[in-house]
Amino acid sequence: MTAQEIRRAYLKFFKERGHAVIPRALLVPQDDPTTLFTGSGMQPLIPYLLGETHPAGTRLVNSQTCLRAQDIEEVGDNRHTTFFEMLGNWSLGDYYKKEEINWLFEFLVNVVGLDPKKLYVTCYLGNQEFNIPKDTEAAGIWSELFKSKKIDPVQVEIGSEADGYAKGMRDGRIFFYDGSKNWWSRAGGESQTPTGDPGGPDTEVFYDFGTAHNPEFGENCQPNCDCGRFLEIANSVFMAYKRTDSGFEPLAKPNVDFGGGLERMAAASIDNPDVFKISLLWPIVQKLEELSGKNYDSHTNDMRIIADHLRGAVFLAVDGVAPSNKEQGYVARRLMRRAILKAFNLGIEQDFIEQIVPVIAGVYEEDYPEVAQKKKEVIESLVREERIFRQTLRKGLKEFERLFAVKSQKPKVKSQGQAIFELYDTYGFPVELTLEELFRRDIELESAWKEEFESLMREQRERSQTAGKGVYKGGLTDHSEETKKLHTATHLMYEALRRVLGDHVIQRGSNVNAERTRFDFSHSEKVTRQQLDQVEKIVNEQIEKDLKVQWHEYPTDEAFKLGAKGAFGDKYGDKVKVYIMGQNGEKPFSIEICGGPHVEHTGQLGEDGKIFKIKKEEASSAGVRRIKAILV
Ligand code: ALA
Repeated sequence: MTAQEIRRAYLKFFKERGHAVIPRALLVPQDDPTTLFTGSGMQPLIPYLLGETHPAGTRLVNSQTCLRAQDIEEVGDNRHTTFFEMLGNWSLGDYYKKEEINWLFEFLVNVVGLDPKKLYVTCYLGNQEFNIPKDTEAAGIWSELFKSKKIDPVQVEIGSEADGYAKGMRDGRIFFYDGSKNWWSRAGGESQTPTGDPGGPDTEVFYDFGTAHNPEFGENCQPNCDCGRFLEIANSVFMAYKRTDSGFEPLAKPNVDFGGGLERMAAASIDNPDVFKISLLWPIVQKLEELSGKNYDSHTNDMRIIADHLRGAVFLAVDGVAPSNKEQGYVARRLMRRAILKAFNLGIEQDFIEQIVPVIAGVYEEDYPEVAQKKKEVIESLVREERIFRQTLRKGLKEFERLFAVKSQKPKVKSQGQAIFELYDTYGFPVELTLEELFRRDIELESAWKEEFESLMREQRERSQTAGKGVYKGGLTDHSEETKKLHTATHLMYEALRRVLGDHVIQRGSNVNAERTRFDFSHSEKVTRQQLDQVEKIVNEQIEKDLKVQWHEYPTDEAFKLGAKGAFGDKYGDKVKVYIMGQNGEKPFSIEICGGPHVEHTGQLGEDGKIFKIKKEEASSAGVRRIKAILV
């Protein structure tokens, strides 16, 4: 089946089973300041999953357009996309596990036509700390279904994240994992479920492409490993709990929240692990082949990034987000600019948007009439962005040639770091593009470039701001206990700001004393009181959770791979100290490169009944905001 056929068949299938088809929500959440984008089908339905009455009834279905900006860097492999559609069906206190799993199996096997032998499922192992049992009920329902197809329903316990899950297939069909894999809430496993949010055990379906294992995994392969053999195509969450301050309370009526990636289901349907081969993305790739005269097999990565990013930018524009320097608009701009850059690599240097957007619109306009309606407007807005960026690119590239003296071999500047800085500072030429250009032209990168670049950035910053006197490294004025607490609070706040405002938030400076922390960060608009409240809430939750504060030393590259945050313009040597704040066995809340010192547990910040409070938010310089916060 094509993706379009799967989408239509899914809506019809659930409509026939008493579900009301509800429209998709916009990519920008309308009344939820906690996130920039709609990232799953359930997000707009949270109030109803918590018990509010939905006007369309207790059985709902739709296909929700989603955007996960945090996946931008992952795009380029065969399965990640920033924009995707999630097929969703919901029971609001109506049917439960039996109907859900039976229908899902029927849909995947009888309607989409997937071979049941290629389906593997995972279920929840249970959690003693929160007193939530192993999901033997879901596993039992799956067992009967597999038996009906003469497939042996062997159950295997894979266990917890702590033991790396690396246990191998062991002839299993139904696998039990802990909450980091088989518990769903907006933010992750049991402990990460935001207070007040619904969550619950889930059961996931994986499709087996039978592709060769990555030797790294080999015999340890299991459905959740990353070797590329398995792809998760469906997730039924049994939303039976609400997170409270002390644990979980059962909801009066348990719900079902199903989500299945349309693109992934379509890839399974054509039995090809490359999602870019499906009917929603392949026409874009074909157009890229035509425009560039190059072929997908030899330019796979660039073409995947362009196809994904432009599709995202088009849907953002349809939903009213034009490229800009702030919030959602900033993500749209990043998507556009990365796509244009990649197109540039392919030799597509003009009228790119005008040619490609109609192809993207063509794929969607039949099922999403708003795409047809807004096509002209969208093209105009994106063409404008293309024009601005191409100008920057042209000027920057000319300057690049001059500075690096590509032809004469006699560079015009002392060092590469200086050239990269000048391109960025004077011409707005993105650093990553300079690096790519150097790579493309086989110009070797001097190892000192980064240090030089960062020291120039720092100098420039110091010129434009009055540097604090007598300040310790890391912005601490002293090492008193109170200062340490506020320093730890600053890390929590930095992460909370990124979660509330977006990952464009980068530390631009900090100064901590025993009375308050002052933190500067990139963000181009005033932060609203509502957003500040949200940041406070997240920080206070982490204090309440009493996260462990630990540090390790890592090679700098590895620290960044771990996702460690740094401060804009800071210099890093070969090795860095990384502070990690989190619960054992869970995804850490905050990972940051920092020299310390910090307290040992975030609970110490709450001693004497204190809470974290933001006192002031103001502009610091262009595009930089300043926050002052205290423990009180
Ligand atoms: N809300 C669930 C998910 O996003 C279904 O996977």
